[in-house]
Amino acid sequence: MKKTIIITGGAGFIGSHVARLFVTKYADYNIINLDALTYAGNLENLRDIESASNYHFEKANILDTAALENIFLKYCPDGIIHLAAESHVDRSILSPLDFVYTNVIGTVNLLNAAKTLWKNNFEGKLFYHVSTDEVYGALGDTGLFTEQTKYDPHSPYSASKAASDHFVRAYHDTYGLPVVLSNCSNNYGPFHFPEKLIPLFINNIINKKPLPVYGDGLYTRDWLFVKDHATAIDLVFHKGKTGGTYNIGGFNEWKNIDLVKLLCKQMDEKLGNAPGTSDVLITYVKDRPGHDRRYAIDATKINKELGWKPSVTFEEGLSQTIDWYLQNEEWLKHVTSGAYQRYYVKMYGG
Ligand code: NAD
Ligand code: DAU
Repeated sequence: MKKTIIITGGAGFIGSHVARLFVTKYADYNIINLDALTYAGNLENLRDIESASNYHFEKANILDTAALENIFLKYCPDGIIHLAAESHVDRSILSPLDFVYTNVIGTVNLLNAAKTLWKNNFEGKLFYHVSTDEVYGALGDTGLFTEQTKYDPHSPYSASKAASDHFVRAYHDTYGLPVVLSNCSNNYGPFHFPEKLIPLFINNIINKKPLPVYGDGLYTRDWLFVKDHATAIDLVFHKGKTGGTYNIGGFNEWKNIDLVKLLCKQMDEKLGNAPGTSDVLITYVKDRPGHDRRYAIDATKINKELGWKPSVTFEEGLSQTIDWYLQNEEWLKHVTSGAYQRYYVKMYGG
């Protein structure tokens, strides 16, 4: 069946993979990428699909309600896949209000735009909100986040995402808006902005710069290859239960320091360095305030209900990711200039 879908944040890391998957897999769908092109949005992420006849780009800020109204009236979407967000925890500690504006108010603006356009005729319509496992807070040494885990966000980023999740569910319960949500663990892969751990460290190894490991380096994250997140989003969008929530994760926990050592080893092999060359760059630095100790997702529900599971091992996915960065140094150079340089100096001092 033909569909028109607005993907918000389609010029970002995960959004660009979702846009690519939908544009290439569903030739009869119209895919509209609605993105403000903040520092994290980059149309270079979408070069290979930008001239596809079923792909359209609209530069708009989700805080601009008039622009949203015009775009919604212009395309009359059946579905919204909402990924636009401020997404970096460290930036949320430096400027929390930006996260309230985009992640909370921006999400409510989109809910209103969908509700207004669809009036009370919700047949065949869906608002899909893409969220994070960080809303659940931090785990101790054992246990996993399930869909029933109580929300307990600690950073301004996760608090803003938690608030947006609550608004999405409130619009379902109050107005009957058909919604679905997913809460995913840490993604990695091509087009990841080099402020996040893996791409930052790949870039720093290439440039022989220190690798700033926060605190004792024993924080744990559950890593998922971004293309596997995109296939999960495709399944949840098409087959997920309306009103439901799906946790998405890699069944793949790594302590930061172990991950960094694996990354150094793979980089040294690929760069033809002597073993141990990049390990020398590892530098322990001041911890992130409010740093969550451990995240780990129980993805049993999406596996059992929708048959989803990750397609690559972490070693394979990481190797593919490093290869992509080594083959796309121009992309890296473009995104690490200008405003990003100023942010880097503020965060890491040089
Ligand atoms: P990103 O920072 O790479 O991209 C965000 C995109 O949103 C950019 O293209 C940016 O231009 C756009 N954007 C930001 N503010 C906007 C605004 N006001 N109006 C319109 N567009 C705006 O983010 P990402 O890592 O791709 O994350 C995408 C979504 O997935 C976010 O909602 C994030 O919370 C969620 N998520 C991310 C991860 C992860 O590991 N990266 C994991 C789970 C969930
Ligand atoms: O869990 C999902 C979340 O994963 C997403 O919702 C966020 O959008 C995404 O940014 C990511 O959040 P994290 O804070 O876990 O990712 P980040 O890459 O910033 O950090 C990963 C771990 O590495 C974390 O424990 C902090 C640590 N770290 C990070 C950076 C940038 C360092 O030790 N040094 C660093 O320089």
